[in-house]
Amino acid sequence: MIKASEFGRFKRTPMVVATGYDFPFARILEEAGVDAILVGDSLANVVLGLDSTRGVDMDIMALFVAAAVRGAGNTHIMADMPFGSDTDPAKAVAGGKRFLQLGAASVKLEGAKLEAIKAMTSEGIPVVGHLGLLPQTAKSFKQVGRDPAERDELLRSAEALVKAGAIAMVLEHMAFDTASLVTRAVPVPTIGIGAGREVDGQVLVLHDFLGMHPAPFPPFAKAFADLHGAALAGATAYCRAVRERLFPAQ
Ligand code: KIV
Repeated sequence: MIKASEFGRFKRTPMVVATGYDFPFARILEEAGVDAILVGDSLANVVLGLDSTRGVDMDIMALFVAAAVRGAGNTHIMADMPFGSDTDPAKAVAGGKRFLQLGAASVKLEGAKLEAIKAMTSEGIPVVGHLGLLPQTAKSFKQVGRDPAERDELLRSAEALVKAGAIAMVLEHMAFDTASLVTRAVPVPTIGIGAGREVDGQVLVLHDFLGMHPAPFPPFAKAFADLHGAALAGATAYCRAVRERLFPAQ
């Protein structure tokens, strides 16, 4: 398992992060050799079918973090702090400790919540930051960091995250040149999603990169498999076999 203290290596070699939420897929991701599994609050959308990531709380996240840890005990598990759990530093520390007790190796939180990050890191909780598009609070899903004022603000936030003790940061749906600038400005690895190639690693949502749902896809995602097609074919074959009395065989 890659420890938080070893993240420096990803300034030199690409970091592969995938979201994963349950036992069987965490096991597959570990077997595939990902560097880290993010139990993202995106599970609200892709697993629970909710409209917003705001729909999950610590108890729901804890259930999935524990399942992912059971499936991938030798892989670095990043646990996402759900909406509302990280605004108050003391609450953030309690939540972070809960995730670590379940077996997570680090936690991720959205935005430049510097007091919460400082409180968590001073309690020995490794924290991954998250800048750019912040789904918990975003008003729109357009690319972030295009204009110079926004770019400067993102650069300042990235540097502040590092000062507060962040060990890495996700850059989501960020203008590619801004993501490249941030990556060169900070000593910790940047993990892009829709942030171009000039970042230190990539993260994608499991259900997108395995093609587990039909379109529409986020514009920056790519399906590397067609699990929706494979699962549909299997389920259809099962229905037919039962109706035609072919299963169970005599
Ligand atoms: O929750 C999540 O899956 C995320 C990724 C999009 C980075 O935060």
